[in-house]
Amino acid sequence: MRLFLDTANIEHIRHGVRLGVISGVTTNPTIVSREGKVDYQKLVQEICSIVPGPVSTEVLSQDVAGMITEAREIARWAENIVVKIPASLDGVEATSVLAKENIKVNFTLCFSLNQAILGAAAGATFVSPFVGRLDDVGEDGIRVVADIVEYLEYYQLPTQVIAASIRHPQHCLAAAKVGAHIATVPYNVLLQMIQHPLTDTGIKRFLDDWKRTQQT
Ligand code: E4P
Repeated sequence: MRLFLDTANIEHIRHGVRLGVISGVTTNPTIVSREGKVDYQKLVQEICSIVPGPVSTEVLSQDVAGMITEAREIARWAENIVVKIPASLDGVEATSVLAKENIKVNFTLCFSLNQAILGAAAGATFVSPFVGRLDDVGEDGIRVVADIVEYLEYYQLPTQVIAASIRHPQHCLAAAKVGAHIATVPYNVLLQMIQHPLTDTGIKRFLDDWKRTQQT
C-alpha cells in the first residue's frame, strides 16, 4: 500500500518526502484553510514541486459546468495535479467529461460502494472512501474500503482506492489488510505509525550494554 500525506503543510510534506515514504498528497478546502490565508494556486504549485507523485486539489463548484471549468484550470497548475470531484450526480457527469480529456480525477467524499461504482464507471483515476467519517456515523468505514477494492479487482478496473479520513494507525493497518492501493494519512498518524515502546527500550538496552562493555 502506498502512502499519501493528507495535509497542505509544506514543512510536514517536506519531512514526509525526506523520509522517502510519501508518494502523493491530498488536500481539501478544510485542510488548506488550516494553513491560514494563502494564495491557493501558489501553495498547491509548491506542494506539486515537492511531491514525487499525485497531488489532489478539490473543486469548490457544485454544478457540472462549474466543476469542469474549475478542474480544467486546476489541471494546468502542474503535471502531477489530480482534481478532486465530489461523489454527487453532477460530480459523476463532470468526472466523465474530465476523464475523456485525460484529466485525473479523485472521486472524493465517497461513502458507499454504489458511489464508487459510478466513479469508476465515469473514469475516475482514484476513489476516496472516507473511513473515519463513516465510523463517526456508526458505519464500518473499512468494510466500505474492502467492498470497493474487491469490486474493482473482480472487474479488473484500473481505478485505485485511496483510504481517506484516516484518524489513527489502526485505520491505516486495516486499510492495508483489505488491499487499499493507497492510504492518505495525516502527518500525526504518519509519526505514530513508527512508534513502538519495545523499539525504544530495545535501543536503550543495546546502548546501555554497549557502554558497559566499553567501561570494563
Ligand atoms: C482526503 O482526501 C480527505 O479529504 C480527508 O482524508 C478527509 O479527512 P477528515 O474526514 O478527517 O476531514
